[in-house]
Amino acid sequence: MTTFELAPSTPRSGAALLVALRETDGGPSVLPVEALGEDEVAELERLAALVGARGSRDEVLRAPGETVGHTLVVFTGTGRGDVTVERLRQAAGAATRTLHGVEALDVALPAEVPELVGALTEGLALGAYRFTRYHATTSTPVAHTRILSPISGEADAAAAMRRGIILADSVAIARDLVNTAPVDLHPESFAAHAVAAGAEAGIAVEVRDEDALEREGCGGLIAVGRGSARPPRLVRLEHAPASPAAHVALVGKGITFDSGGLSLKPAKDMGDMKSDMAGAAAVLAAVLAAARLELPVRVTGWLALAENMPSGSATRPSDVITIRGGRTVEVLNTDAEGRLVLADALVAAAEEDPDVILDIATLTGAQLIALGNRVSAVMGDDEVRSDVVAAADAAGEQFWPMPLPPELAESMKSPIADIANIGDRNGGMLVAGLFLQSFIPDRRWAHLDIAGPALNTHEPWGYTPKGGTGVGVRTLVTVLEAMCG
Ligand code: BES
Ligand code: ZN
Ligand code: ZN
Repeated sequence: MTTFELAPSTPRSGAALLVALRETDGGPSVLPVEALGEDEVAELERLAALVGARGSRDEVLRAPGETVGHTLVVFTGTGRGDVTVERLRQAAGAATRTLHGVEALDVALPAEVPELVGALTEGLALGAYRFTRYHATTSTPVAHTRILSPISGEADAAAAMRRGIILADSVAIARDLVNTAPVDLHPESFAAHAVAAGAEAGIAVEVRDEDALEREGCGGLIAVGRGSARPPRLVRLEHAPASPAAHVALVGKGITFDSGGLSLKPAKDMGDMKSDMAGAAAVLAAVLAAARLELPVRVTGWLALAENMPSGSATRPSDVITIRGGRTVEVLNTDAEGRLVLADALVAAAEEDPDVILDIATLTGAQLIALGNRVSAVMGDDEVRSDVVAAADAAGEQFWPMPLPPELAESMKSPIADIANIGDRNGGMLVAGLFLQSFIPDRRWAHLDIAGPALNTHEPWGYTPKGGTGVGVRTLVTVLEAMCG
């Protein structure tokens, strides 16, 4: 664990010094901050040139620090053009990602307003993340981090730092869950984890097991889970402050492994489907964050947990199932399972009449085709969708608005049930969104498809490691904060 501290603009000797560079035609230039005097900036630029720094994004280089009174200088690039808050967050994270083993770090990056203090804290903490569960030995992240800031004594700055730490910790919770092997993380163990984490954070947690799901008519969770030796669960979490400003329900897809079921996926990349519970992980992490931040908004979180496996007891393509509330679905493809478990959970969430419902899911391969692996999609009614996009922009996550064209829903018509679980292949992400919408018509609702961004299968970048990314957590928390008024 890294500790964070705010300090006035006097760097401490015996620590490494982190400095940001911009890329310009005339070579790298140091981003000026109060903590660095003119002579120091000149010396740092000499050192940057010496180690061949360009100041490009994701470039992190080390130089000897004696001439500026430090053990080490670390240069992190912010690229060309405007240095946005998000660029600084990324540059801070790129640095800590490579600085494991460093004892103390003084951060001389722009931190003159609380928003920047928060963003730097977040970036530094997110970059320092490692998943260590399965390693016998591990390196330690930067132990002590001090952000040098002219507003270090102000309450706003301390609050921004605390929020940044809570957000990064919450993202780490989601990342850990995604990274955990599906032999260890299945519906029962996921639910047990939620119970333990909820107790610690002071939030109420209820778990419905397979018998309760059967009794309550949750046919989606039962159908998807029936091929697995690990039965499904529906978890309800609640953060209930006194006199809340609003009630928001968050619903997460929690397929702890998606083999496709009898509509089996190809072997190639099937292992990535351990991340098919990233939506549920984001919901759990966001509700925990709401509690830790003591947000004056009531939040109910729903984790729709099942393992999608093929077996003699598995749901067959052509089976007809009944979702909670009574609508029937003809299951034409058992690999379109996320929408089935979400339908149950959305109906359950809507029964409590929240002001807004948001669901988050690694729902479709079509999301990756449309937007790639760094940009998530958001669908739903215009207003809620815009709120999510605005929150994502503020949080430093990329969510792009997508439509729900009603005519596409025609393709899910079934001759024998109320709806089929697949429709047109073209626009597959939107078809999935329309399927969900059909279970909660007239609700203020948005659906977040994070299929690609939930798992980074490429090289690490900025504050994003390989593996689980924790995408969605910061956006959800920022939406909740906005609901507080
Ligand atoms: N979990 C997958 C979606 C997915 C794909 C997530 C790639 C992350 C990366 C989902 O359950 C699924 O298999 N969807 C099918 C739906 C299709 C059968 C209509 C898909 O997208 O191919
Ligand atoms: Zn699937
Ligand atoms: Zn899935």
